[in-house]
Amino acid sequence: MSAHQIIYLPGDGIGPEVAMAARRVVDAAGVEVEWIEKPLGLGAFEKFGDALPKDTVDAVRATGVALKGPSTTPIGGGHVSANVRLRKELELFANVRPVKTVPGLETSHGAIDLVIVRENTEDLYAGFENEVAPGVVTCIKVITDRASRRIARFAFSYAQRWDRKKVTAVHKANIMKKADGLFLDCCRQAAEESNNAGGTVTFNDVLVDALCMHLVTKPSRYDVLLLENLYGDIVSDLAAGLIGGLGLAPGGNYGAETAVFEAIHGSAPDIAGQGIANPIAMILSAAMMCHHLGRPDAYRRIRRGVASVTRERKDVLTPDLGGSGDTEGLTAAIIAGVQAQPATI
Ligand code: NAI
Repeated sequence: MSAHQIIYLPGDGIGPEVAMAARRVVDAAGVEVEWIEKPLGLGAFEKFGDALPKDTVDAVRATGVALKGPSTTPIGGGHVSANVRLRKELELFANVRPVKTVPGLETSHGAIDLVIVRENTEDLYAGFENEVAPGVVTCIKVITDRASRRIARFAFSYAQRWDRKKVTAVHKANIMKKADGLFLDCCRQAAEESNNAGGTVTFNDVLVDALCMHLVTKPSRYDVLLLENLYGDIVSDLAAGLIGGLGLAPGGNYGAETAVFEAIHGSAPDIAGQGIANPIAMILSAAMMCHHLGRPDAYRRIRRGVASVTRERKDVLTPDLGGSGDTEGLTAAIIAGVQAQPATI
């Protein structure tokens, strides 16, 4: 079998630390990869004057798959987010974020097993901000029939493929009757289409504010959550908190022909360079990448390898998980855990 060509985007802050850990785990899982490193983020902006050089986008488009560390976006000014641009330019319209209790790291919220499916290309992140008069700024929320229908169909097809039982559309259509109303209509239609095609996934909807309360009090009532871009971004971090923090929550961005895998967390400038970042979220994102590459065996090996460490090796856990270990020690233990799994599982 020839090696998979994968674009490796280390990113900024803790990005290079956790992305390299994930890359080493993929290699250890027996997936043959030719890694091609490209710049993206603040480092790319400082070096090339562009946070997302064209050559980087072209490379991801050509190979169809990238493993990406988080990148830094300045707050309140500076360059436009390389993430937002990458997702738009490659039409990576679906952001999938599984949030599942990690064995050995159970929290007071009980067993969590949710999947967040977030629309990735429009909403308030479309980039239409204007100062219409001094001291008055508008930010336009863009919701289209095309993008809403596309993400809703994706959510049902994903749910069916992964044997999930229910999709819940999350919205605020009581207030934004047109924008969120359109999104909700598209979700309802996708539910009907799925049902008419013999699908078994059920459907309901919830207001985003009520969802936040339910997630904290009774998360088990949810299965697959289908959200617009902004709600999806915020609810993902909340959900990550339920399982023990941002260091545990992986993600993948999917388009028709391209996929980019990255943790949901950011570049964590507060701990960058200290060697204490938790690599698990990036490693689980890399596991999702292996599944996408047609290697469910490697996906399982990595997940089980991680679980063996979180269950049995508390001594190597990083500070965000209450331990006193570091990135290198945790990564090495996970690599050993992955290699200890049978080759065919
Ligand atoms: P953040 O996710 O980087 O950090 C929030 C908190 O979680 C910090 O205390 C950080 O130390 C901790 N944390 C995050 N990941 C961790 C890990 N793997 N191990 C241990 N602790 C971890 O969010 P923040 O501080 O709001 O954003 C920092 C930068 O990251 C910003 O420039 C933001 O734009 C960018 N960002 C990039 C993303 C991406 O590239 N996909 C996603 C989210 C934010």
